[in-house]
Order: sequence, then structure tokens, then C-alpha cells
Amino acid sequence: MAVTVNELVRIKTPVFSHITSEDLEHIYEPSEDTFLLIDALEKDLELIHKVHPTLCLEVGSGSGVVITALGSILGGACQYVSTDINLRACQITEETGKINGVTIKTVCTDLVEGVTEEVKGKVDVLLFNPPYVVTPSEEVGRGDLEYTWAGGERGREVMDRFLPSVQSLLSSKGLFYLLVLKENDPADLEDIMKQQGFICSCVISRKTGPEHLSVLRFSRI
Ligand SMILES: C[S@@+](CC[C@H](N)C(=O)[O-])C[C@H]1O[C@@H](n2cnc3c(N)ncnc32)[C@H](O)[C@@H]1O
Repeated sequence: MAVTVNELVRIKTPVFSHITSEDLEHIYEPSEDTFLLIDALEKDLELIHKVHPTLCLEVGSGSGVVITALGSILGGACQYVSTDINLRACQITEETGKINGVTIKTVCTDLVEGVTEEVKGKVDVLLFNPPYVVTPSEEVGRGDLEYTWAGGERGREVMDRFLPSVQSLLSSKGLFYLLVLKENDPADLEDIMKQQGFICSCVISRKTGPEHLSVLRFSRI
């Protein structure tokens, strides 16, 4: 029986045993959504390899396991940059990378504010697992942990602020992976990104408890 290359490649979950229970009072614990995003990357590896990525950027990296997982597969020919609004998350992301042999430049900033000039037009793989839970607007950014999940109205307040940046960040062949909840209205997100010239595909979906999560991929081709 024929076996495709993609079927043979598995992305290993990075080691994150250095993250303490005290850390988890401040940063996002790798969870179902985290692992769904890694699964989406694994599913898309053939496509990702075709892009020959030289720069990957994760926005809101939290523990850093997603960008580290990708880095452990793509290796040192690619540069890894991550951002988070939470300084402790940035420090832990750097450590997660180090422990797993991936060098990540981490920047503590709002979305991509502090890295835009450096990465503009160069990002081949862009990752964002945003705070997506539907909450009152006042909860968005109220504290370290609220930053991790509170998404405000339709769970869209943080991701909607980010979407207009995607066009200028991505390289011509770049891929953008966004984790969304059904309540975030994926069809509307697709329409918004279509207006920026992107096509949308749903890479993977999973129902975990009450949440119906999906990973959307946006690309220009
Ligand atoms: C759902 S967690 C995802 C964490 C990690 N990427 C994962 O998949 O496990 C969202 C992350 O986004 C960060 N975040 C929230 N608002 C942000 C903002 N305005 N700018 C940068 N990072 C932000 C949070 O601190 C948190 O680490």
C-alpha cells in the first residue's frame, strides 16, 4: 500500500515539564486548543514544507509549545519569533524553546506592535491561538489569565484587532493559522479575510466538551 510522506511525519509534543503550577497561575496551560493547533500543523506539514519557511511568527505564544513544536520539525534553517502581552509567557516560551532545542526570539508586546518593522512581509508561517471565549468586553485584558481566554463580544475583540495586520506581515507564499470557536463566526472571518485577498480553508475541527474548535488556514493561493 502506498504511504505518503505526510503520513509518516508526526510532530512531537515538546517537553514542558519545567512549567510550574505557580507559572500556570499567570500563563495559559497547554490545553485542547493548543494541541488542536499542533495537530493542524501536523496535518498541513507537506504544504508548510513546500513554502520552505524561513520565518515563523506566533502571536500570543503562552507556554511556547506550539511554535516549539513547529520549530522541532522545521529545524534551524528557519527563524522563530513570538510575541505575548504577558512578560512571564515570553520568558517561558524562550525556555520551552531552549529545552527542546529551538531558538525563539520572544517579544513582550501588544499583538505584533513591537516586531512589525522587523518581520513585515517576511512571515511564512503565522500562528495565533487568540483569547476566543465570548465574555463581557470589560473582561478583555483584565489580568494575566483573562488575557489568555477573554475574547469580549463574540470572542472576537482581540482577533479582530489583529486581522488587519495579516496582509502586511505575511510573505507572498505565507500561511496564517488561526484557532477559532464556532461562536467566533468563522464564516464572517472568512469574508473579512477574503476582502484582504486571502482564501480560507478549515484544516481541522474538534468538539471538546462544550467547545467546537477549528483551525482556519488563510493563504493568498
Ligand atoms: C489562548 S492563549 C494561547 C497560548 C498558546 N499559544 C497556546 O496555544 O497554548 C492566548 C495567548 O495570547 C496572549 N495574548 C492575549 N492578548 C494579547 C495581545 N493583545 N497581544 C499579545 N498577546 C496576547 C495571552 O497572554 C495568551 O498567552
